[in-house]
Amino acid sequence: MSLAKRKLLLALTGIFLLSNCANIGGGPGMSAKSASGIPLGKSGPHEVQPLPDKPRFGHPVSEGDLAGWNIDIRTPDGLGLPAGRGSVAEGRQIYVAKCAACHGADAKGGPVYGTMVGGIGSFKGSPRVLTPGSMYPYAPILFDYIRRSMPMDRPQTMSANEVYAVSAYLLNLNGLIPADAVMDAQSMPRVQMPNRDGFLLDDRPDTQAVRCMTRCK
Ligand code: HEC
Repeated sequence: MSLAKRKLLLALTGIFLLSNCANIGGGPGMSAKSASGIPLGKSGPHEVQPLPDKPRFGHPVSEGDLAGWNIDIRTPDGLGLPAGRGSVAEGRQIYVAKCAACHGADAKGGPVYGTMVGGIGSFKGSPRVLTPGSMYPYAPILFDYIRRSMPMDRPQTMSANEVYAVSAYLLNLNGLIPADAVMDAQSMPRVQMPNRDGFLLDDRPDTQAVRCMTRCK
């Protein structure tokens, strides 16, 4: 590219940038403000808004309000599983009404998700089939997952009894509990999941590293 052409290009770019800045800055007549009076669309000098007399950070959250969010379960031993119970038979009915549309009949796969049954022992070969039965190391994970997120279009709308029941149904379909089993806070952690010992602890040296926030080497 010739020097003359380059200069022309630079000059054009300059004009373009200038005109853009003018737009962002807003003209002298621009006076749009937010609902609380903060000038909008101005990057140039503008009035400083007086601070409110105290920060408005809301108010302390009560234990009661927190309870709805505090739903995690310690899955190896089931600590945090709520009261309630549900049988395989009850779970089958709930499954048909609330889950089958996406997950298919008998949880063998539907229009939205693949199978949730089987695959046990498939991890040493190919293809691997990941299901709650083949993958989860502890049964309470199933409760936690379903209570938190399923049915996907209406999460957290099921009672603890319903979640125990569909969990029981899925565990039974995977051959892990008998058809007359009932799941509750005591029985669920006792279910032996086949992949219980299939996870490795990550013991690479950097997992032991001491956290450093300043002057790190
Ligand atoms: C609107 C569709 C929809 C409905 C209804 C629905 N699910 Fe799901 N479900 C999904 C999708 C999509 C995923 C995969 C989500 C992901 O991988 O992030 C999923 C994942 C799951 C998983 C995890 C599977 C795995 O392999 O780890 C379980 C368990 C599950 N659903 C149970 C249920 C149960 C029980 C119900 C009924 C109470 C239900 N779902 C209803 C769409 C749905």
